[in-house]
Amino acid sequence: MLLKVEGVNTYYGNLHALWDVDLEIARGEIVALIGNNGAGKSTLLRTIMGLLHPRSGRILLNGEEIQGRVTNRLVNKGLTLSPEGRLVFPKMTVFENLRMGGYSRPARELKDSCARVYDLFPVLKERSEQPAGTLSGGEQQMLAIGRALMSSPTLLLLDEPSLGLSPVLAERIFELIVQIRAQDVSILLVEQNAVGALAIADRGYVIENGRISVGGTGRELLDDPMVYDLYLGGLSEDAVEEFEGESD
Ligand SMILES: Nc1ncnc2c1ncn2[C@@H]1O[C@H](COP(=O)(O)OP(=O)(O)OP(=O)(O)O)[C@@H](O)[C@H]1O
Ligand SMILES: [Mg+2]
Repeated sequence: MLLKVEGVNTYYGNLHALWDVDLEIARGEIVALIGNNGAGKSTLLRTIMGLLHPRSGRILLNGEEIQGRVTNRLVNKGLTLSPEGRLVFPKMTVFENLRMGGYSRPARELKDSCARVYDLFPVLKERSEQPAGTLSGGEQQMLAIGRALMSSPTLLLLDEPSLGLSPVLAERIFELIVQIRAQDVSILLVEQNAVGALAIADRGYVIENGRISVGGTGRELLDDPMVYDLYLGGLSEDAVEEFEGESD
């Protein structure tokens, strides 16, 4: 296993936000984490990333315990987070934003990493000298993901990359996530767009009120009546079938 989360409990002061969370990601997997607002998705990503320290439980990266480590160290070990809300630096150019993402790498590697990001997102190359704040929402999301990729991660944590995007752009982001995985980057994908996420995921977990309630393959979760009612019920059967078809 690339990542193992075992019995993790995380608090904000007295607020018990994660309850005995278990989750695993094998190398090369896309794992989706779905759940409603306030369920604890971002809290779990922040806990894995060392931005929050769990009160109990273990987090293992390639078999090594990493809970309680500082974030910088974890970036050097191949972990990276593209945070919720496309937190790009608006006054810096696109290129400067990317360079920030590569701060942990030797300068000589930056050019290669940047070229790889530009390959994946050609629009960022066209806009490289433009302030990031002038990009469209979808372009800013691409920049946030591109910036995370600059540290050459082995595990990319993505917090709601499709949020606020049109259905067409959201689908494009999901396609790009599949391309990123093809470059040997494993992915933990947090999404409220359960159909889109499960369609590209090898496996998924549902988190409710800080607890993992169900886990399974993307297909099992799409077919689970509880998951369907809670997360897919707003969609027509046709839409679900269309996504399922794409994942085959
Ligand atoms: N900095 C914080 N201080 C105190 N409580 C927090 C903090 N951040 C989150 N919480 C609480 O922890 C719980 C989980 O929040 P979290 O942000 O992880 O949810 P989420 O699943 O990411 O939701 P969303 O889909 O809205 O982003 C919520 O009840 C939230 O109010
Ligand atoms: Mg969140």
